[in-house]
Amino acid sequence: MKILVVGGGGREHAIIKKLKKERSDLQIFCAPGNGGIGEEALCVPIPATDLNHICEYAKTQAFDLVIVAPDDPLVAGLVDKLQALGIRAFGPTKEAAQIEGSKVFAKELMKKYDIPTAEYAVFEDFDVANAYLETATIPIVVKADGLALGKGVIICKTRDEAFEALEAIMKDRQFGDAGSRVVLEEYIEGPEVSILSFCDGETIVPLSPAQDHKKAFDNDQGKNTGGMGTFSPTDKYTPEIQAEVEEKIIHRTLEALKSEGIVFKGVIFFGLMLTENGPKLLEYNARFGDPEAQVVLPKLDTDLMEIIDAVIDGHLQDVHFRFNPEYSVCVVIASGGYPDAYITGYPIEGLKDVDKDVVVYHAGTKAANGRMYTYGGRVLGVTGFGRNMKEARDAAYRNVKKIHFEHMQYRTDIGIK
Ligand code: AMP
Ligand code: GLY
Repeated sequence: MKILVVGGGGREHAIIKKLKKERSDLQIFCAPGNGGIGEEALCVPIPATDLNHICEYAKTQAFDLVIVAPDDPLVAGLVDKLQALGIRAFGPTKEAAQIEGSKVFAKELMKKYDIPTAEYAVFEDFDVANAYLETATIPIVVKADGLALGKGVIICKTRDEAFEALEAIMKDRQFGDAGSRVVLEEYIEGPEVSILSFCDGETIVPLSPAQDHKKAFDNDQGKNTGGMGTFSPTDKYTPEIQAEVEEKIIHRTLEALKSEGIVFKGVIFFGLMLTENGPKLLEYNARFGDPEAQVVLPKLDTDLMEIIDAVIDGHLQDVHFRFNPEYSVCVVIASGGYPDAYITGYPIEGLKDVDKDVVVYHAGTKAANGRMYTYGGRVLGVTGFGRNMKEARDAAYRNVKKIHFEHMQYRTDIGIK
């Protein structure tokens, strides 16, 4: 069987590693992939956002399946385009991916179907939004409607910051058309939990809860990043909270989508905040999280290809899900300076010294002359496992210390809180 994975980060490496481990008959290609992925799949230098090129390549190579992992191509409709060419594809259609592609769409869905979320208002006009901010409760969260490389959410602690954020998004169009509408949202507080789930349009199956660390430095200092580390499960997600989330958020979302006539096939990622007033839904993603996939997928014992087939063909309810009770911790190693400017091209040492039961997922790496070099902001994700959080964390950090490259940067507190 010949498959193409679209994307090239740690998440895609986690998907490919799981597929390879379970199926020896797979011939895997990845566009564009990275240095580490190149050790287990054939990387083709097509950007994940070059939809036409990917479609053309998929057609000429006659893939049996294309897995679309990142948000941009999903929201732009890659799955629809592939399907129109008769190519089997895993991931939501453009219509379904709106739950991630439009914050306005997501919030209106939550409101209409009584899914607990922060209070909000939507604006299409700068002056009206600006007037609203004059008297709005501070802190407030300013969100660009569309995808903005993860930078479209601005938490404003002062009114001036809010005016500035609004101007940057709506007037200066810092994120282009993503800023033609904004959501101004109530600021809420509490621990954040990510729930990844598989959905075939009729059945939804949540996986083990994970917690991400978005800030660049220890103790949540510094700027927001794509994610500096994750762990799973989390004891903050108690059975009581789980029951409430499954009823009021996860199943209500499936019913909401069905009522709207939207068939969602793929992965729904629920970004939750556990507030004093109960769990609330901050956002949806229409895909696996990165670096959530690097702690959640290795603990899923069910065959991934079986799940993917069931999602596409609509018989997820027949799949027997088996979860490994282990704990996992993923520590991201980034290039010094990330998420601001950083230099790449440094050789990476020590990858061969890593323990056998620890997994190193590659994100921003490139192979050349038989060596591995840094090639991005987030470079590697080192995932350790254990019977408890401490064991998993120790395994991850023991191995992070075996790896070295110039100006490497990582948090030392993943999984401690
Ligand atoms: P999002 O892109 O929606 O996940 O937002 C990025 C991050 O911003 C979230 O993970 C939260 O940490 C934070 N955030 C988003 N919405 C709110 C809110 N209403 N109140 C407080 N923090 C928020
Ligand atoms: N780690 C958060 C995300 O994938 O969006």
